Amino acid sequence: MRHMDTAAYMRETYERSTPSSASAARRAARSLPGGDTRSMTWHAPYPLYLTRGEGTRVQDADGKWYEDMIANYGALAHGHNHPAIVASVAAQVARGTAPGGPTAVQYEHAERLRSLNPSLERVRYCNSGTEATMWAVRAARAYTGRDVIVKMDGGYHGTHEWGQVNAFFNANRSAPAVLDGLPEAQLAPGVPLTTANDVVAVPFNDAAALGAVLDHLSDQVAAVIVEPVLGVGGGIPAAPGYLAAVRRLTSAADVLLILDECATLRLGPWQVKHGLTPDLTTHSKIIGGGLPLGVFGGRKDIMSLFDPAGSSPIYHASAFGGNSLSLAAGIAALDRFGKDEIGHLDRLGERLRSGVDAAAASANIAARAIGEGGLSYVHFGAAHPRNAADTARLREGRSELRSLLHLSLLRAGFLTAPHGLLCQHVLTQPEQVDAFVEAYGNALDTLHPYIATHHPELITGPSGATLHPDAS
Ligand SMILES: Cc1ncc(COP(=O)(O)O)c(C=O)c1O
Repeated sequence: MRHMDTAAYMRETYERSTPSSASAARRAARSLPGGDTRSMTWHAPYPLYLTRGEGTRVQDADGKWYEDMIANYGALAHGHNHPAIVASVAAQVARGTAPGGPTAVQYEHAERLRSLNPSLERVRYCNSGTEATMWAVRAARAYTGRDVIVKMDGGYHGTHEWGQVNAFFNANRSAPAVLDGLPEAQLAPGVPLTTANDVVAVPFNDAAALGAVLDHLSDQVAAVIVEPVLGVGGGIPAAPGYLAAVRRLTSAADVLLILDECATLRLGPWQVKHGLTPDLTTHSKIIGGGLPLGVFGGRKDIMSLFDPAGSSPIYHASAFGGNSLSLAAGIAALDRFGKDEIGHLDRLGERLRSGVDAAAASANIAARAIGEGGLSYVHFGAAHPRNAADTARLREGRSELRSLLHLSLLRAGFLTAPHGLLCQHVLTQPEQVDAFVEAYGNALDTLHPYIATHHPELITGPSGATLHPDAS
């Protein structure tokens, strides 16, 4: 293979080995735009259609098995068809899924969650992370009587209107920043421009910028919402002391702090590991054991606004909110998610990050793993990003390269995603991580000639030093 042909060769190899996914994609496109129903899971030339999951592996429509290194974008922690979760769901299905009144599985699930995360004095259930953050913000606005939300530039909290402001995806409209030096508001297609009146984005890991916004607007701000690890914005962990500073600034300004731990429950959750108490928290993903479930909760005085017997309650309805099936699956999952499992995921994540860093160094390619605990991302470039603007710079002009790495890893039998997220299951063993690291190193070796031609700034010397003046 000549290096000029690497990209074409990778795509052809993918297409040759996935004919059933290709025909599924053609058929699906007759019903679903692009042949998929989640923007995140689509990739060029067409995504793999998956037919089955077993333990830590998934099978595609052509019968090939892949080691699952992404765990449904971090939404799963117990693999696929875990016997205890299957049994719990089967038992619940036989009793009914949504009887139309409160059920014991609601408080039984809540008791388990509260023992994992004691800041959840009271909780309410919904069906997704999008809904959880929407309701947490609604609660903050109702409690404070203020409308403005401060979020992070590149922070991802779901697909509702305010969540799609500076959310790191395609934006087609912008509005000026409220203060000089802040990123301008970037709005996704279809989000009303007026949304920018009530949402201010600040750079992650920049306490001074947040302090300036709170000084400027504090009597209008209901809450600051932040992910402890900026996920979609690049997998960037909060710098040491940053979130403690955010807590101090919000308390001093009498503004609520919402920690979006939809993705970071798998870290402990983050707030328990790092000893930080927010006013409100959101969780989703692994709390449903593979079924849709979201939760928001926190301080009793704030959450009491949802008490229907209160004087002016927030109306929180949802036909399938708190449905028994998701909660039954979630109970089985949470019963298997304690210190041992969290510690195991942490160790797998550390092993993975140090392994892929060593593999990149020995392939003489500037690529770094970043993340915390069982949540990792890989980026091309020599430096770790500190905020979403850094991530955007690291990705600029490198989407074909990221796609080729993804296709190479699929060829080697590992399911990942082009944006670089890597997540394991509690069933994953260190040997599986080591096998992935080896495949990753082989993929970088294969891509070396392509990288030398198209991205010479990413070629490093034996010492790990980049050889190009534009390396970043
Ligand atoms: C931190 C965070 N918040 C919210 C969401 C939205 O969750 P959902 O996709 O369930 O709506 C996600 C999903 O990726 C997330 O990672």
